[in-house]
Amino acid sequence: MEIRPVRHSKLAEVDFDTLEFGKYVADHMLVCDYADGEWQQPMIVPYSNLSLNPATLALHYGQTVFEGMKAFRMTDGRINIFRMDKHYDRFARSLHRMCMAIPPADIFTEGLTRLVELDRGWVPNQPGAALYLRPFVYASEAKFGVKISEQYRFVIFTGPVPELYTSPIKVKVETNYVRAARGGTGFAKCGGNYGAAYYPTKLAREEGYEQVLWTDAKEHKYIEESGMMNAMFVINDKLVTPPVSDSILDGVTRDSLLTLASALGYETEERPVALAELEAAFRSGTLTEAFGAGTAAVVAPIKTIHINGTDHNLPVYTNASVHRVIKDKLNRIRTGIDGDIYGWNHVIE
Ligand code: COI
Repeated sequence: MEIRPVRHSKLAEVDFDTLEFGKYVADHMLVCDYADGEWQQPMIVPYSNLSLNPATLALHYGQTVFEGMKAFRMTDGRINIFRMDKHYDRFARSLHRMCMAIPPADIFTEGLTRLVELDRGWVPNQPGAALYLRPFVYASEAKFGVKISEQYRFVIFTGPVPELYTSPIKVKVETNYVRAARGGTGFAKCGGNYGAAYYPTKLAREEGYEQVLWTDAKEHKYIEESGMMNAMFVINDKLVTPPVSDSILDGVTRDSLLTLASALGYETEERPVALAELEAAFRSGTLTEAFGAGTAAVVAPIKTIHINGTDHNLPVYTNASVHRVIKDKLNRIRTGIDGDIYGWNHVIE
């Protein structure tokens, strides 16, 4: 893979003690174009602006797909990229749904590895912080007729992010707007899913809630996701989460937490979670935890859920709360304190 290194690194300009999600980008990026029915040679170049023709199809009809993953500093100083294969599989599924060209797995894997090796100084040492990796593809053909693009650009850039510790948030169950319908693109990590969520989320914020809990598009009876994350609950001491479907993202953190919860002896259930069940569980005191699960925050605990006009409060969380125990286990595996029996870490020597 051709690499054009930067002349002057920007690393010294970053204060790793005051990181913010999305504020800094590392020195290099990967660029690989698709044209004439095939992927061209990938290149790693200095991070820079893209030049776009105004007719670029992605800007008009929404063929854009991204992934979000992380590289962690391990306690022995090595670096690992977490669950690269599972992210690639989801990337391919999202791209397929959007009729977009799929970069070959070896360009994805080798590109991420080379990029992280080259920018290894950008991987934070601070506990819980990571180098966020953002692979994405957009339709790059410049032709404003409504059509499936015949040209694509695959880019990967990276940037250091802090541990997003969110103190427990208030969420509102959304029964008017929908995030995704059956048969739609909810399972795909395409830009439109995020843009379409802004307006209902903005309205919820105006009412004093930080996020929305999305419900199913057909009946508004079942929980789908929590903001931009998968939704998880502890009901009767069991970790319960809605099953993945074509309207729910197949979250890598979701899958990792379910796996670890089972291994730690918690019962887990992937099944529909009805609003009526949550209301009954609040009444009986059997709903003890609610949280979002995603790559950026890992877990985002919830303190209040607004359902049909009523605010329901969760008990105060402690270090024995299930979400803290499984998050801690996940962090121990990623930093190499505990063994990686699942083969999740792609360690860079
Ligand atoms: C995540 O939880 O990682 C997300 O999907 C949010 C991301 C768009 C920053």
